[in-house]
Amino acid sequence: MKSDLKYHVRLSEERIMGARYAVLPGDPGRVEKTARSMDPNAQFLAQNREFTSWLALLNGERILVCSTGIGGPSVSIALEELAALGLKYFYRIGTTGVIQSDITLPCLIITTGAVRLDGASTHYAPIEYPAVADLELTNTLVEAARELNLPHHIGITASADTFYPGQERYDTFTGYVPKRFQGSMEEWRRLHVLNYEMESASLLTIISTFGLQAAVVASAIVSRIREETPDDRVLRQAEEQLAMIIKRALEIHINRNTQ
Ligand code: URA
Repeated sequence: MKSDLKYHVRLSEERIMGARYAVLPGDPGRVEKTARSMDPNAQFLAQNREFTSWLALLNGERILVCSTGIGGPSVSIALEELAALGLKYFYRIGTTGVIQSDITLPCLIITTGAVRLDGASTHYAPIEYPAVADLELTNTLVEAARELNLPHHIGITASADTFYPGQERYDTFTGYVPKRFQGSMEEWRRLHVLNYEMESASLLTIISTFGLQAAVVASAIVSRIREETPDDRVLRQAEEQLAMIIKRALEIHINRNTQ
């Protein structure tokens, strides 16, 4: 039935009113702001665990903004339930730490593909299967960044299941990083990987296996080369940049789809 609620996201077909576009921040605290930046009359829909959702209207299309929580397992739950409700286009907006010395903050990273350092994607496809972004949606992000003059880099993201050892951070409880990850940041840097985050490998793999479309843009809040603690100014700028790029990218895609 159209009113049946999905287990975790607590949404139904009826509640999302035919939305085909999903915007997916990790943080539930960013959902309302993101939705309202697209549509001042956006409506709260549901909240359960890490999944908070609001519905916005942009250029005649309903946009579902739904948080995924941190990491692949909760991303996979959101994607299963949202895809079953009829969502087709998935834009992740997140935050990230950059690992290349020529990338200065603030800036956006548009991911073309992800190094699969997660576990969830392996439940959907063997490790040889690529975690690649959809070209059409990714191009809308690139066009939006250029139009709005937002500093950005386009390339490969390392997507890890853990914030600490998987991203080779030594400021942990034990101070020990297992051998698998010792030296890994330098390796990714030399292989021209731009940044670390925790969701895109799962998101891009899973959405590709569904035959749907996904793209990822993240705002850099730390540079692993220079600075480890994000300050308030950078966090505020990150939020503003993400709100700007996602709104424009959606407008570009919606206008093309309806022409
Ligand atoms: N998110 C991550 O996963 N890593 C960072 O360094 C910053 C944000």
